[in-house]
Amino acid sequence: MSSREQFSSKLGFMLAAAGSAVGIGAIWKFPYMAGSNGGSVFILLFIACIFLISLPVLIAEFMIGRRGQADAVTTFKEQAPSTPWFAVGILGTVVSALILSFYSVVGGWILSYLVRALTFSVRPEAGQTYETLFATVIESPWQMILAHGGFMLLTILIVQAGIKSGIEKAGKIMMPALFVFFIILVVRSLTLDGAMEGVRFMFVPDWSHLTWETVLLALGQAFFTLSVGISIMITYASYLGKNENIGGTGVNVAAMNIFISLLAGLVIFPAVFAFGFEPDQGPGLVFVILPAVFEQIPFGSFFLIIFFILLLFATITSAISLLEMVVSTVIGKRGVSRARTAWIVGIFIFLLGIPSALSFGSLSHITIFGRSFFDLVDFVTNNIGMPLGALFISIFVGYYYSKQVSQTELNVSPVWYSIWRVLIRYVAPVAIIVIFIQGIS
Ligand code: PHE
Repeated sequence: MSSREQFSSKLGFMLAAAGSAVGIGAIWKFPYMAGSNGGSVFILLFIACIFLISLPVLIAEFMIGRRGQADAVTTFKEQAPSTPWFAVGILGTVVSALILSFYSVVGGWILSYLVRALTFSVRPEAGQTYETLFATVIESPWQMILAHGGFMLLTILIVQAGIKSGIEKAGKIMMPALFVFFIILVVRSLTLDGAMEGVRFMFVPDWSHLTWETVLLALGQAFFTLSVGISIMITYASYLGKNENIGGTGVNVAAMNIFISLLAGLVIFPAVFAFGFEPDQGPGLVFVILPAVFEQIPFGSFFLIIFFILLLFATITSAISLLEMVVSTVIGKRGVSRARTAWIVGIFIFLLGIPSALSFGSLSHITIFGRSFFDLVDFVTNNIGMPLGALFISIFVGYYYSKQVSQTELNVSPVWYSIWRVLIRYVAPVAIIVIFIQGIS
């Protein structure tokens, strides 16, 4: 095992973990989920779910992974021999593959928009609106399959390159650039006429939206955005040296994510209200609003190109963590080639994603339990797979690990340790079970 690659620095790991976490979850999904579920109430619930549930589980995954120094399935097998705990790793692998299958479709939307931005055709033509433009893009079957394939290809190429040269490098450059860009956009959006309405939508609670379903969706978003519950962070932490501060890293990743989510909201919602769009239009929200905001900025078409490039990067750093998780499980201890496995798994996931890619076009008439393929995969992974995985992980670290082990692993002051321990043993599991049962029924 000594030949196993490691991250070259603490910062490298943090940025890679943050790279996995910060993606279209914060930039695309958060605004549209908030927009469709009452704004401020959803945002409050989301932040509470992060600190009380998702962050403690994130730290637990870091612990399991760093202790294990192997892929998730092997790790569970070694830490809990002759028990079914390894199934948690398998669940994570399956859910990761499913998430990537639709994540890549959204990655494809971004690619398509980038190509349009490069050819200056993001503006609606006469008789078209930003909404109809978006619909035209996602409805065209071949373009969607091509874009989804192109996105998977980029993801495979990076994972094939391995940890240091691929995953770590990507995170180091792209994440900071994205940050800077968002700040500029927030300033523009907030200075639009009528922007305050959007700020109010985000921060003044309308309690009529407080339902169990909203809580479940907020919980799902809190897991999705931190990439928690499906052993991804176990996999990443397995490349981590023994003396890193995992508690601090977890807090940083969570804080960064909330910050980017709120920034995304502060770009989107003021513009939504200033331009008279609807906040609850679903997955198209960001694709409709952003081009409209950029139109209001000097050199907007140029900045739009840069923005889509950065967004694409943020999406890829998350996608590679999903692919890496599946690839590392398949490689396991078999010693098969990383590159070949990355290709085979990647192509399989591409095929798996085709129904989702066609969900808005040629397959839009097919629904299962009232949802399109795309929505179904999204819902099942996000609101069932991730909470279940997180529940098992909290029980594993909270009860299966001895107090001494978790104390040594976490290595923080007694007060912080006690807080974390209460959260992981009681708050997280109970909350997940209650929200899950209420939200589903
Ligand atoms: N956290 C990523 C995002 O917000 C999505 C993701 C989910 C990545 C699960 C890995 C695992 O975009």
